[in-house]
Amino acid sequence: MMDQAEQLRKRVSQQIQQSGSTRVIAVTSGKGGVGKTSFSVNLAIQLSKKGKRVVIIDADFGLANVEIMLGIRPQYNMADMIYHDKSIDDIITRGPLEIGFISGGSGVQDLVNLDKEQMKVLIPKLLRLDSLADVIIIDTGAGISDSVLEFVLSSPEVIIVATPEPTSITDAYSLLKTVNRSKDFMVEEKKIQIVANRVGTKEEGKEIYDKLNIVSTKFLNIQLEYLGAIMQDANASKAVIEQKPVSLAFPNSSSTRCYQEIGNKMLEIQEESEEPREGIAKFFLEFIRRKRRKY
Ligand SMILES: Nc1ncnc2c1ncn2[C@@H]1O[C@H](COP(=O)(O)OP(=O)(O)OP(=O)(O)O)[C@@H](O)[C@H]1O
Ligand SMILES: [Mg+2]
Repeated sequence: MMDQAEQLRKRVSQQIQQSGSTRVIAVTSGKGGVGKTSFSVNLAIQLSKKGKRVVIIDADFGLANVEIMLGIRPQYNMADMIYHDKSIDDIITRGPLEIGFISGGSGVQDLVNLDKEQMKVLIPKLLRLDSLADVIIIDTGAGISDSVLEFVLSSPEVIIVATPEPTSITDAYSLLKTVNRSKDFMVEEKKIQIVANRVGTKEEGKEIYDKLNIVSTKFLNIQLEYLGAIMQDANASKAVIEQKPVSLAFPNSSSTRCYQEIGNKMLEIQEESEEPREGIAKFFLEFIRRKRRKY
Protein backbone atom coordinates (compact mmCIF):
# COMPACT_ATOMS: atom_id res chain seq x y z
CA MET A 1 0.00 0.00 0.00
CA MET A 2 1.23 3.44 -0.86
CA ASP A 3 1.65 5.63 2.16
CA GLN A 4 0.36 9.16 2.29
CA ALA A 5 3.62 10.77 1.40
CA GLU A 6 4.01 8.42 -1.52
CA GLN A 7 0.60 9.40 -2.89
CA LEU A 8 1.36 13.04 -2.48
CA ARG A 9 4.64 12.55 -4.18
CA LYS A 10 2.94 10.99 -7.16
CA ARG A 11 0.39 13.75 -7.33
CA VAL A 12 2.85 16.59 -7.33
CA SER A 13 5.51 14.89 -9.38
CA GLN A 14 3.93 16.10 -12.62
CA GLN A 15 3.87 19.67 -11.39
CA ILE A 16 7.41 19.36 -10.22
CA GLN A 17 8.69 18.05 -13.51
CA GLN A 18 8.18 21.43 -15.12
CA SER A 19 9.01 23.74 -12.26
CA GLY A 20 11.73 21.72 -10.62
CA SER A 21 14.72 23.19 -12.36
CA THR A 22 16.27 24.48 -9.17
CA ARG A 23 19.61 23.07 -8.24
CA VAL A 24 19.58 21.71 -4.69
CA ILE A 25 22.92 21.25 -2.98
CA ALA A 26 23.50 19.86 0.50
CA VAL A 27 26.75 20.99 2.11
CA THR A 28 28.03 18.61 4.74
CA SER A 29 31.13 17.18 6.42
CA GLY A 30 32.20 14.31 8.61
CA LYS A 31 33.75 16.46 11.26
CA GLY A 32 32.36 19.73 12.64
CA GLY A 33 33.98 23.12 12.31
CA VAL A 34 35.63 22.48 8.95
CA GLY A 35 34.01 25.38 7.09
CA LYS A 36 30.57 24.26 5.85
CA THR A 37 28.84 27.49 6.77
CA SER A 38 31.68 29.61 5.41
CA PHE A 39 31.49 27.63 2.19
CA SER A 40 27.70 27.86 1.91
CA VAL A 41 27.65 31.59 2.45
CA ASN A 42 30.58 32.43 0.20
CA LEU A 43 29.43 30.13 -2.56
CA ALA A 44 26.07 31.89 -2.38
CA ILE A 45 27.82 35.25 -2.79
CA GLN A 46 29.84 34.05 -5.77
CA LEU A 47 26.85 32.50 -7.51
CA SER A 48 24.70 35.56 -7.01
CA LYS A 49 27.47 37.71 -8.45
CA LYS A 50 27.04 35.56 -11.54
CA GLY A 51 23.36 36.40 -11.68
CA LYS A 52 21.97 33.32 -9.98
CA ARG A 53 19.14 33.63 -7.49
CA VAL A 54 20.38 31.82 -4.42
CA VAL A 55 18.60 30.75 -1.25
CA ILE A 56 20.45 29.27 1.72
CA ILE A 57 18.58 27.01 4.09
CA ASP A 58 20.12 26.65 7.52
CA ALA A 59 19.34 23.08 8.48
CA ASP A 60 21.80 22.99 11.32
CA PHE A 61 19.85 22.88 14.54
CA GLY A 62 22.77 24.15 16.56
CA LEU A 63 24.07 27.68 16.54
CA ALA A 64 22.61 30.17 14.13
CA ASN A 65 25.71 30.21 12.00
CA VAL A 66 24.51 31.46 8.65
CA GLU A 67 22.64 34.35 10.24
CA ILE A 68 25.78 35.48 11.96
CA MET A 69 27.93 35.25 8.86
CA LEU A 70 25.41 37.12 6.74
CA GLY A 71 24.79 39.63 9.50
CA ILE A 72 21.02 39.22 9.28
CA ARG A 73 18.32 38.29 11.74
CA PRO A 74 15.29 36.51 10.33
CA GLN A 75 11.93 37.08 11.91
CA TYR A 76 10.42 33.70 11.07
CA ASN A 77 11.58 30.19 10.39
CA MET A 78 10.31 27.13 8.64
CA ALA A 79 8.07 26.18 11.56
CA ASP A 80 6.15 29.44 11.05
CA MET A 81 5.44 28.39 7.49
CA ILE A 82 4.25 24.97 8.59
CA TYR A 83 2.15 25.97 11.59
CA HIS A 84 1.55 29.69 11.52
CA ASP A 85 0.29 30.38 8.07
CA LYS A 86 3.40 32.19 6.90
CA SER A 87 4.22 32.05 3.19
CA ILE A 88 7.56 31.12 1.76
CA ASP A 89 8.14 34.80 0.99
CA ASP A 90 7.50 35.65 4.64
CA ILE A 91 10.17 33.30 5.90
CA ILE A 92 12.86 34.32 3.40
CA THR A 93 15.11 37.04 4.78
CA ARG A 94 17.23 38.89 2.25
CA GLY A 95 20.90 39.32 2.95
CA PRO A 96 23.72 40.93 0.98
CA LEU A 97 23.32 40.74 -2.83
CA GLU A 98 19.69 39.77 -2.25
CA ILE A 99 20.71 36.30 -1.15
CA GLY A 100 17.72 34.59 0.39
CA PHE A 101 18.00 32.96 3.74
CA ILE A 102 15.63 30.49 5.41
CA SER A 103 16.15 29.42 8.97
CA GLY A 104 15.12 25.81 9.37
CA GLY A 105 14.59 26.13 13.09
CA SER A 106 12.62 23.29 14.56
CA GLY A 107 10.59 23.19 11.34
CA VAL A 108 12.91 20.86 9.50
CA GLN A 109 12.52 18.14 12.08
CA ASP A 110 8.78 18.72 12.29
CA LEU A 111 8.37 17.93 8.59
CA VAL A 112 8.11 14.27 9.42
CA ASN A 113 5.03 14.66 11.60
CA LEU A 114 2.82 16.55 9.19
CA ASP A 115 -0.64 15.26 8.46
CA LYS A 116 -2.31 15.26 5.07
CA GLU A 117 -3.92 18.66 5.45
CA GLN A 118 -0.70 20.28 6.52
CA MET A 119 1.08 18.70 3.58
CA LYS A 120 -1.52 20.07 1.21
CA VAL A 121 -0.79 23.54 2.50
CA LEU A 122 2.95 23.13 2.58
CA ILE A 123 3.64 21.69 -0.83
CA PRO A 124 2.44 24.63 -2.93
CA LYS A 125 4.57 26.86 -0.73
CA LEU A 126 7.60 24.71 -1.41
CA LEU A 127 6.84 24.71 -5.12
CA ARG A 128 6.90 28.48 -5.01
CA LEU A 129 10.41 28.27 -3.60
CA ASP A 130 11.45 26.48 -6.77
CA SER A 131 10.36 29.46 -8.81
CA LEU A 132 12.16 31.90 -6.50
CA ALA A 133 15.60 30.33 -6.67
CA ASP A 134 18.03 28.95 -9.23
CA VAL A 135 20.20 27.38 -6.56
CA ILE A 136 19.31 26.27 -3.05
CA ILE A 137 22.20 25.60 -0.70
CA ILE A 138 21.42 23.59 2.40
CA ASP A 139 23.91 24.06 5.20
CA THR A 140 23.61 20.87 7.22
CA GLY A 141 25.06 20.03 10.56
CA ALA A 142 28.24 18.07 10.93
CA GLY A 143 28.68 14.41 11.49
CA ILE A 144 26.71 11.34 10.90
CA SER A 145 23.59 12.25 12.82
CA ASP A 146 20.31 10.99 11.44
CA SER A 147 19.09 14.30 10.16
CA VAL A 148 22.32 15.05 8.33
CA LEU A 149 22.11 11.68 6.70
CA GLU A 150 18.55 12.37 5.59
CA PHE A 151 19.65 15.57 3.92
CA VAL A 152 22.47 13.85 2.14
CA LEU A 153 20.23 11.03 0.96
CA SER A 154 17.49 13.40 -0.20
CA SER A 155 19.69 15.81 -2.09
CA PRO A 156 20.70 15.13 -5.70
CA GLU A 157 23.91 17.03 -5.19
CA VAL A 158 26.16 16.82 -2.14
CA ILE A 159 29.29 18.76 -1.28
CA ILE A 160 31.53 17.34 1.43
CA VAL A 161 33.93 19.79 3.00
CA ALA A 162 37.16 18.38 4.44
CA THR A 163 40.36 19.92 5.78
CA PRO A 164 43.90 18.53 5.86
CA GLU A 165 43.38 17.33 9.43
CA PRO A 166 43.53 13.53 9.40
CA THR A 167 40.34 13.25 11.49
CA SER A 168 38.48 15.42 9.01
CA ILE A 169 39.39 13.05 6.19
CA THR A 170 38.60 9.86 8.10
CA ASP A 171 35.32 11.34 9.31
CA ALA A 172 34.41 12.28 5.74
CA TYR A 173 35.03 8.69 4.75
CA SER A 174 32.89 7.44 7.66
CA LEU A 175 30.10 9.68 6.45
CA LEU A 176 30.36 8.17 2.97
CA LYS A 177 30.38 4.70 4.43
CA THR A 178 27.22 5.39 6.41
CA VAL A 179 25.52 6.92 3.37
CA ASN A 180 26.50 3.91 1.30
CA ARG A 181 25.00 1.53 3.85
CA SER A 182 21.56 3.08 3.49
CA LYS A 183 19.34 1.01 1.24
CA ASP A 184 17.96 4.23 -0.24
CA PHE A 185 21.31 5.32 -1.52
CA MET A 186 21.63 5.14 -5.28
CA VAL A 187 25.05 6.09 -6.41
CA GLU A 188 24.10 6.70 -10.02
CA GLU A 189 21.53 9.31 -8.99
CA LYS A 190 23.92 11.30 -6.90
CA LYS A 191 26.66 13.73 -7.45
CA ILE A 192 29.10 13.79 -4.54
CA GLN A 193 31.74 16.45 -4.64
CA ILE A 194 34.69 17.25 -2.43
CA VAL A 195 35.90 20.68 -1.36
CA ALA A 196 39.19 20.86 0.52
CA ASN A 197 39.25 23.77 2.95
CA ARG A 198 42.06 25.47 4.86
CA VAL A 199 44.82 24.13 2.66
CA GLY A 200 48.33 25.56 2.46
CA THR A 201 48.66 24.86 -1.26
CA LYS A 202 46.27 23.88 -4.03
CA GLU A 203 48.17 20.59 -4.37
CA GLU A 204 47.34 19.75 -0.78
CA GLY A 205 43.67 20.09 -1.68
CA LYS A 206 43.98 17.71 -4.58
CA GLU A 207 45.76 15.21 -2.31
CA ILE A 208 42.87 15.26 0.14
CA TYR A 209 40.51 14.54 -2.72
CA ASP A 210 42.71 11.76 -4.09
CA LYS A 211 42.95 10.06 -0.71
CA LEU A 212 39.19 10.13 -0.26
CA ASN A 213 38.39 9.17 -3.80
CA ILE A 214 40.73 6.18 -3.84
CA VAL A 215 39.19 4.54 -0.77
CA SER A 216 35.68 5.58 -1.69
CA THR A 217 35.98 4.13 -5.19
CA LYS A 218 37.69 0.98 -4.04
CA PHE A 219 35.65 0.06 -0.97
CA LEU A 220 32.30 1.79 -1.53
CA ASN A 221 32.15 1.97 -5.29
CA ILE A 222 31.40 5.68 -5.04
CA GLN A 223 33.32 7.96 -7.34
CA LEU A 224 33.82 11.42 -5.97
CA GLU A 225 34.22 14.59 -7.96
CA TYR A 226 36.67 17.31 -7.06
CA LEU A 227 35.35 20.85 -6.88
CA GLY A 228 38.51 22.52 -5.65
CA ALA A 229 40.38 23.87 -2.67
CA ILE A 230 40.11 26.91 -0.43
CA MET A 231 43.27 28.37 1.01
CA GLN A 232 43.83 28.81 4.70
CA ASP A 233 43.23 32.53 5.06
CA ALA A 234 43.55 34.75 8.13
CA ASN A 235 40.93 37.07 6.63
CA ALA A 236 38.36 34.27 6.80
CA SER A 237 38.33 34.39 10.60
CA LYS A 238 38.46 38.19 10.61
CA ALA A 239 35.39 38.27 8.39
CA VAL A 240 33.45 36.03 10.80
CA ILE A 241 34.20 38.45 13.61
CA GLU A 242 32.96 41.32 11.44
CA GLN A 243 29.84 39.28 10.65
CA LYS A 244 30.48 39.58 6.94
CA PRO A 245 31.26 36.89 4.39
CA VAL A 246 34.95 37.02 3.50
CA SER A 247 33.97 37.37 -0.17
CA LEU A 248 32.48 40.77 0.63
CA ALA A 249 34.75 41.93 3.44
CA PHE A 250 37.96 40.96 1.62
CA PRO A 251 37.22 40.66 -2.10
CA ASN A 252 40.87 40.09 -3.03
CA SER A 253 41.75 37.70 -0.27
CA SER A 254 43.11 34.25 -1.12
CA SER A 255 40.06 32.34 0.11
CA THR A 256 37.72 34.70 -1.76
CA ARG A 257 39.49 33.92 -5.02
CA CYS A 258 39.10 30.21 -4.30
CA TYR A 259 35.38 30.56 -3.66
CA GLN A 260 35.13 32.46 -6.91
CA GLU A 261 36.91 29.72 -8.83
CA ILE A 262 34.70 27.05 -7.33
CA GLY A 263 31.56 29.05 -8.07
CA ASN A 264 32.61 29.47 -11.70
CA LYS A 265 33.44 25.81 -12.00
CA MET A 266 30.05 24.79 -10.65
CA LEU A 267 28.29 26.93 -13.21
CA GLU A 268 30.47 25.66 -16.05
CA ILE A 269 29.77 22.06 -15.11
CA GLN A 270 26.09 22.86 -15.04
CA GLU A 271 26.09 24.43 -18.48
CA GLU A 272 28.03 21.55 -20.00
CA SER A 273 25.83 18.75 -18.81
CA GLU A 274 22.38 17.77 -17.72
CA GLU A 275 22.91 17.79 -14.00
CA PRO A 276 20.22 16.43 -11.72
CA ARG A 277 18.07 19.44 -10.98
CA GLU A 278 14.96 18.33 -9.29
CA GLY A 279 13.85 21.28 -7.26
CA ILE A 280 13.27 21.76 -3.60
CA ALA A 281 9.73 20.39 -3.49
CA LYS A 282 10.97 17.03 -4.70
CA PHE A 283 13.76 17.21 -2.21
CA PHE A 284 11.43 17.69 0.74
CA LEU A 285 9.08 15.01 -0.45
CA GLU A 286 11.99 12.60 -0.57
CA PHE A 287 12.97 13.72 2.88
CA ILE A 288 9.49 13.21 4.32
CA ARG A 289 8.96 9.89 2.57
CA ARG A 290 12.19 8.54 3.91
CA LYS A 291 11.45 9.62 7.46
CA ARG A 292 7.94 8.19 7.37
CA ARG A 293 9.16 4.84 6.24
CA LYS A 294 11.61 4.72 9.05
CA TYR A 295 9.23 5.23 11.94
N1 LIG B 1 39.70 28.93 4.61
C1 LIG B 1 39.70 29.27 5.90
N2 LIG B 1 40.78 29.88 6.44
C2 LIG B 1 40.79 30.23 7.74
N3 LIG B 1 39.77 30.02 8.59
C3 LIG B 1 38.68 29.40 8.11
C4 LIG B 1 38.58 28.99 6.75
N4 LIG B 1 37.37 28.41 6.56
C5 LIG B 1 36.76 28.44 7.76
N5 LIG B 1 37.53 29.03 8.70
C6 LIG B 1 37.19 29.27 10.10
O1 LIG B 1 36.82 28.06 10.71
C7 LIG B 1 35.79 28.28 11.64
C8 LIG B 1 34.66 27.30 11.37
O2 LIG B 1 34.07 27.61 10.13
P1 LIG B 1 32.53 27.31 9.86
O3 LIG B 1 31.70 27.87 10.95
O4 LIG B 1 32.26 27.75 8.47
O5 LIG B 1 32.55 25.72 9.97
P2 LIG B 1 31.31 24.73 10.02
O6 LIG B 1 31.75 23.48 9.34
O7 LIG B 1 30.09 25.38 9.51
O8 LIG B 1 31.16 24.49 11.58
P3 LIG B 1 29.95 23.73 12.33
O9 LIG B 1 30.20 22.28 12.13
O10 LIG B 1 30.12 24.17 13.75
O11 LIG B 1 28.68 24.20 11.71
C9 LIG B 1 35.35 29.73 11.51
O12 LIG B 1 35.87 30.48 12.59
C10 LIG B 1 35.98 30.17 10.21
O13 LIG B 1 36.37 31.51 10.26
MG1 LIG C 1 28.17 25.59 10.37
